[in-house]
Amino acid sequence: MCGIVAYIGGKPARELLLEGLKRLEYRGYDSAGIAVINGGLQLSKTAGRVRVLEDQLGQDDRFDGTIGLAHTRWATHGEPSDRNAHPHEDDPELGHGIAIVHNGIIENHAALKTYLMDNGHVFASDTDTEVLAHLIGHFYEGDLEASVRQALREVTGAYAIAVVCAQEPDVLVVARKGSPLMIGVGSDEYIVASDASAIVAHTNQAIELDDDTIARLTTDSFRTSTLENVTITPQMRELEVDLEQIELGSYPHYMLKEIHEQPEAIRRCLKGRVSARDGSVVLGGLNEFARELGRTRRVVFLGQGTALHAGMIASYLVEGLAKIPSRADFASEFRYRNAIIEDGTVVVAISQSGETADTHAALREASRKGAMTLGLVNVVGSTITRESDAGVYLRVGPEIGVASTKAFLGQVTASVLLATWLGRRRFLSPMEASSMLETLNTVPTLISRVLDQSDQIAEVVGKYVQRDNWLFLGRGVNYPVAMEGALKLKEISYIHAEGMPAAEMKHGPIALIDKGMPVVVVATRSSQYEKVLSNIEEVRSRGGHVIAVATEGDDSIRNICEDVFFVPDVPEVLQPLLTVVPLQILAYHAAVMRGHDVDKPRNLAKSVTVE
Ligand code: M6R
Repeated sequence: MCGIVAYIGGKPARELLLEGLKRLEYRGYDSAGIAVINGGLQLSKTAGRVRVLEDQLGQDDRFDGTIGLAHTRWATHGEPSDRNAHPHEDDPELGHGIAIVHNGIIENHAALKTYLMDNGHVFASDTDTEVLAHLIGHFYEGDLEASVRQALREVTGAYAIAVVCAQEPDVLVVARKGSPLMIGVGSDEYIVASDASAIVAHTNQAIELDDDTIARLTTDSFRTSTLENVTITPQMRELEVDLEQIELGSYPHYMLKEIHEQPEAIRRCLKGRVSARDGSVVLGGLNEFARELGRTRRVVFLGQGTALHAGMIASYLVEGLAKIPSRADFASEFRYRNAIIEDGTVVVAISQSGETADTHAALREASRKGAMTLGLVNVVGSTITRESDAGVYLRVGPEIGVASTKAFLGQVTASVLLATWLGRRRFLSPMEASSMLETLNTVPTLISRVLDQSDQIAEVVGKYVQRDNWLFLGRGVNYPVAMEGALKLKEISYIHAEGMPAAEMKHGPIALIDKGMPVVVVATRSSQYEKVLSNIEEVRSRGGHVIAVATEGDDSIRNICEDVFFVPDVPEVLQPLLTVVPLQILAYHAAVMRGHDVDKPRNLAKSVTVE
């Protein structure tokens, strides 16, 4: 949600900032803007994508400076428009030439705005960010860092910011609280960005700023301090992302690339963690807490969107494999629901980005109430990983497509590992675990088999792509898969889709079914297979067209369905790793056929860092 990039060094800032914005564009794409200090503050911004900004800038030599900042926006306060695009300036009447880019929300912006207006400030936009720009300008007395510090002390909310000032052309000030920001450290240059993707082309050394921290950067100096101005020494770390991982390569879309990366992603997630022979799972991140986790009495999974669907599957797995009571909850609901945390409760935050504000806030709340907290997270060093007691990295590599695919499979795989790890400390026998883990090791190859059906799936999608309402049904571990299938379809193709437990359909939603309505049913061989077949009949007798996801070899299912995608036969607990894949491919093709921008669906952004 909003991408920030800032640069100070010896190179032309404009090219570097635009390149960074393109890499960050998946974080938000409502509008884009850039500010460079070059004989004063030069600023250009526009509604629309980064390429519109690039065209607008052309070769304008006013932007030839070596210090600047840029932003790509996902609107929170104020519609997407030129005037609401970042960067925002302080009051031009004051003549400071201060510009700021911001990711987050200034919650007390209304009160601050009133105060500033009472002091003569005139605002040019509807944004909370402009309020912060004016506040910094209001306090400015020749020291940018000091005025930023003073302003941030007045602010409540979340922010990652970068600030420049025409009167101090050699200084870049950045700060964060609750929104991600990292500083890439090059030789006599710094590249600040919301995430590593805008940095790795220039350096692999970076500093992750802590909350409530300010950094003052010049080409040859660096100082980080708290809001109370106490100097701190941050940790430098090596970025694990390399350029190739974030390039599109020969694929037309990141989503398709990431769908096809799934076999390799799951291999990486499993590597060194599974010993099928003795039925054991090694999760290095949990070692330190093995004793405490051995006493787990309840596991609560928290997440949003796709990550929550993985959490729902995880709760089935923990109950099934570890025999520990478990449930999954929207992080956003858990946080405000006054949830009861009993002794022995472990709360697991699931998140690709590790930055989702709702999930982060819920994790904090759980920790405050005394739960032990774990993170199943993809992005190394992200906020959730740093704030949880322990965790398991997904290791699926960077996910750029807004629609989550390989991260979901990583989340489910990590959940299988966690559930088995917990189970082996309780009732799960080595033999049971061993046989399941043996199959788990083959899952990457099995996923490839499903991927091979992409053309056939496209053909089926072609028959139904004009239909505006779809249902997705599943039972047991495949019920969250149905939810995920519906989410994928609606978020990138804008088709209305609902996912639900197959049995729930007849309690109301069945009224939606009319002639030819596409109903996708996960109908693999499982403990509830017969029941699912009955649900299929219920759909058919109301004229619905059933597209089934079934087990290879189950040819008889063709007799009761219009279309079938087959997946290899695996134990029920592992089925989501295969059954979701045709649904991802289905959604992809539907979006392409409808002519949508698959990687940048309307109104969305990759990670949602506001509550
Ligand atoms: O980064 P997170 O996994 O915490 O993100 C949570 C959701 O915003 C995310 O899974 C979202 O639902 C997906 N992008 C949908 O495909």
